[in-house]
Amino acid sequence: MACAPVILANAEIRDEFIAEGMRDLLRGASAGDVAECIARAVEDDPDEHTVGYGGWPNILGEVELDASFMDGATLRAGAVAALKGFRHPISIARQVMLRLPHILLVGDGAARFAAEIGAERRDMLSPEARLAWLDCLAEVGDAEGEGTIDLAVRALRRPLGSDTMNVIVRDAAGNLCSAVTTSGIAWKYPGRVGDSPLIGAGNYCDNRYGAAACMGLGEAAIRVGASAQAVMLLRLGWSLEAAGQEVVRQLSELLDEPSDGDHMRRADWVRLLMMDARGHVGAFATRPGLSFKVQTADDPQPVTGEAKWVNQG
Ligand code: GLY
Repeated sequence: MACAPVILANAEIRDEFIAEGMRDLLRGASAGDVAECIARAVEDDPDEHTVGYGGWPNILGEVELDASFMDGATLRAGAVAALKGFRHPISIARQVMLRLPHILLVGDGAARFAAEIGAERRDMLSPEARLAWLDCLAEVGDAEGEGTIDLAVRALRRPLGSDTMNVIVRDAAGNLCSAVTTSGIAWKYPGRVGDSPLIGAGNYCDNRYGAAACMGLGEAAIRVGASAQAVMLLRLGWSLEAAGQEVVRQLSELLDEPSDGDHMRRADWVRLLMMDARGHVGAFATRPGLSFKVQTADDPQPVTGEAKWVNQG
């Protein structure tokens, strides 16, 4: 085997999805196929409430999905945003990369493309997510007779997870692939797009230097161009440790801004996962207690670690 395969993922992903991915890598599967396969499994997991089926809806009760896929060998990428009613946004994102001379499709255009390629439709709102949305409306008011802006701003103050599925895979040929998929922040304003489908913000991958992906408050990751910046620092010769700490220090600075009126800071953390071209991994976060999973060819199961907490100082 020319290179040692590695899978790096956020800790919310079930061990069995990652372990199955490693078995496939050891049988010669490509980084892209394994990344897509893991992402599809998470999209089907009804207990993962910020990804795919069962994801928390927007303020109107609609599940809007964002996903991106980047191939580190070619720097080609595909993404969809604010997509409704399809089971596997990650696969649709990959097909955008493969079938169109574009990178990002949104809303109706993304749904049109998904229908045209025969992607499977699904009502993505689970009964549990619907009940949580109704509970939220019962607390903050409903959309009847008032603007959606105020309603969304009030609802966004209710703390609910803003997880995302991040997976970065290195295969036996040394190719890297990164896949990100999410339903975004619960109760978001309709059409809100986070960092996950934005290449450079929530996802970036280049075989020559490494890959990075983000989870948490997408607005912060967008503002610092977190994933592309992390890989750019590797390109400039920074160590993985120094690059990850520098980007997360900038994110911490944003999150420590005065919060008056900044309702989006309620999900006040970001975690950055990184892998360099040789398969070394790191995880960095703006708050303690955030974990990641990594599995190499020598591990029978993924190993969980805690992301390094980086303050702005
Ligand atoms: N990081 C996911 C989001 O903000 O939508």
